[in-house]
Amino acid sequence: MLTSPPGFEDVFPDSVLRWDLITKTVREVFKVYNYKEIIVPVLEYTEVFSRGIGNETDIVSKEMFSFNDRGGRGLTLRPEGTASVVRAYVGNGNYNRLSNSKLFYIGPMFRAERPQKGRLRQFNQFGCESFGSDNPFYDYEIISMMHTISSRLDINDYSLLINSIGCLECRVDYITELKEYYRNRVNNLCDDCMKRFDRNPLRILDCKKGECVSLKLGAPKILSYICDNCRNHYNQLKELLNMNNIDYIEEPYLVRGLDYYTKTTFEFVSDRLGGQNAFAAGGRYDNLVEVFGGKPTPAVGFAAGIERINLLIEDNSVIADSLDIFIVYSGDLGYRRALDLAGMFRVHNISVDMDPGSRGFKSQFKKADRENARLAIIIGEGELAEDSCTVKDMKTGNQEQVHIDNVLNHVIAFLNVTAM
Ligand code: HAM
Repeated sequence: MLTSPPGFEDVFPDSVLRWDLITKTVREVFKVYNYKEIIVPVLEYTEVFSRGIGNETDIVSKEMFSFNDRGGRGLTLRPEGTASVVRAYVGNGNYNRLSNSKLFYIGPMFRAERPQKGRLRQFNQFGCESFGSDNPFYDYEIISMMHTISSRLDINDYSLLINSIGCLECRVDYITELKEYYRNRVNNLCDDCMKRFDRNPLRILDCKKGECVSLKLGAPKILSYICDNCRNHYNQLKELLNMNNIDYIEEPYLVRGLDYYTKTTFEFVSDRLGGQNAFAAGGRYDNLVEVFGGKPTPAVGFAAGIERINLLIEDNSVIADSLDIFIVYSGDLGYRRALDLAGMFRVHNISVDMDPGSRGFKSQFKKADRENARLAIIIGEGELAEDSCTVKDMKTGNQEQVHIDNVLNHVIAFLNVTAM
């Protein structure tokens, strides 16, 4: 038997139903906040990510699916959306000339992580990026969108963690202090963090290994080092969250796993996801557009994992799939009439199924049950003789004989009433 590679999963119809609910909700919420959809390629030149996310991050150093094209140029399956969207934004004059661009995306991402529940090698994100303003209003706006998406999906048992990691200038002093703190403790860090100590000490704070997590607890906190401008920005964000009743927890070591962040960082976390507890995360990245060759343009964004959200709404019983009509018929004439009716209903967006091979009523009704049909339409010899069909409510068992000319209106009326 052939299998898919580890971390690459099939998504079966029951899960696709929740998936559709998630993406429908996401599109509705992005629309009411005036975010426009952008579709970027799943494959990029490798430097888009090495330059964008940072060579010292786990994503770039260990987790990318990269290979060379025939000309020897490095290509990578995108591990996230931000770097690609920034590359697209910088390259498109129509968008980067606008004072403000608010974009969202939905699609697959690829990271060669160790697969486990909620952690896949191909996973899907929805996310957004807001370009052109350093006003904390936009940091608040994207958090508020994710808050709205969560509550529309009935996910209320989560915590929002926030922090500010300052700008490139005020971070210099902090990094000096951080190195001072770790200098005598380097030998107690994990192998990766020993390297990070010299190359990118901020990354040590993002390490999830036991020894590094315990050592972190005594480390200096970045909020004590940030400049007045960054502090004001952070305080204004907290004020906006307070004013709008969005609860948050300040997490002083939240630096996130990507190097592009400045000022705000945040994560939506849930205990129900185990070790991989973040289902959405993001922050501000005021320097990234310049790194990609664009003019200085502050920006902020977030992304959320569709599979992780799917796990959080797994027990949501409101999502049920049902077929409108299963047609049950007998004989060749019945078969032909069933085909005609199926065609007519489908033109009116009414879902219909039937069994072309089976002639017995019993097995056809079994299939109607299995498909969770709301109505069965029965075409037997009696019905054919009278140009009618019998419409059976599969829930109550009530049935009624209806003339063929009236069956469409009859079904529409039934479906409208039961949909209410
Ligand atoms: P991230 O924290 O790397 O941020 O990913 C965002 C979300 O994607 C996570 O919170 C999680 O729900 C989901 N995710 C990440 N890795 C996996 C995985 N291996 N399996 C399943 N789900 C996963 C970013 O990607 C940034 N681009 C967010 C951002 C946008 N920052 C600014 N703008």
